[in-house]
Amino acid sequence: MASVLILGATSTIARALAAEFGRHRYDLTLAGRDREEMDALAADLAIRYGVEARVRCFDALAFETHQPDLESWLSEEPDSIVGAVVCFGYLGDHAAAKTDFAEARRILDTNFTGCMSALNIIANHFERRRSGFICAVSSVAGDRGRQSNYLYGAAKAGLSVYLQGLRNRLFPSRVRVVTIKPGFVDTPMTFGRPGLFLVASPEYVARSIFKAIQRGKDVAYIPWFWRPIMFTARMIPEWLFKRPRL
Ligand SMILES: NC(=O)c1ccc[n+]([C@@H]2O[C@H](COP(=O)([O-])OP(=O)(O)OC[C@H]3O[C@@H](n4cnc5c(N)ncnc54)[C@H](OP(=O)(O)O)[C@@H]3O)[C@@H](O)[C@H]2O)c1
Repeated sequence: MASVLILGATSTIARALAAEFGRHRYDLTLAGRDREEMDALAADLAIRYGVEARVRCFDALAFETHQPDLESWLSEEPDSIVGAVVCFGYLGDHAAAKTDFAEARRILDTNFTGCMSALNIIANHFERRRSGFICAVSSVAGDRGRQSNYLYGAAKAGLSVYLQGLRNRLFPSRVRVVTIKPGFVDTPMTFGRPGLFLVASPEYVARSIFKAIQRGKDVAYIPWFWRPIMFTARMIPEWLFKRPRL
């Protein structure tokens, strides 16, 4: 059976997405930091959908482990892993990060460097094999910098541009690269944060990610209306955009 690797498998969006893949009869490799949570998730997927779910330990910030671990997982199932989805992320404490370099670095390293490090290895594997898909959850926050979250936004902007380049590179190898740009989603990442609007459920986002992968989309805004919203936001001239507290 075809199998999908999910990095950051304990994220709320990843859990809903794993269920979506399970419902469509994909086996799963769940990779993340919390082994106990992933074991429970794997058991649930096996009972609910009759699929096989393997669990692997993965920390986006343990860069030195990425190459040996990912290469070994991919070589264990050289043909059956048909795709990889990157779901981990870290919103962080933006106010603290203005003065605390360690927090600023964690935001950048989790959302950008960690994704890039893992995806470089996966991309090389799929490119050699000339098949597969890569999907990563970026964010509308990367479309325009705002004072309330520009470190997270900068990391997601970097991730979106990285994915654009990867898509261009892998096109001749028939490896698809899908960029997901959700707006606000109801998960622990946003829980209790002020100023949220048009909040989507993780289940809706997971169904939309699955469809975007199946349809071979390049970039999917989720829900769709974030595309015109962010288009409009990008069109506002900088002399005006810099004034309000956003
Ligand atoms: N929620 C939103 O409104 C929203 C909007 C746009 C984009 N996104 C993006 O969607 C993705 C999923 O977010 P979510 O809302 O589902 O968040 P979530 O439920 O808060 O989950 C965040 C996940 O990231 C994992 N993580 C953090 N640092 C990690 C590290 N160093 N190594 C491995 N895993 C790490 C956490 O693992 P542990 O369980 O081990 O802590 C957790 O599974 C993220 O990329 C996020 O940036 C979210």
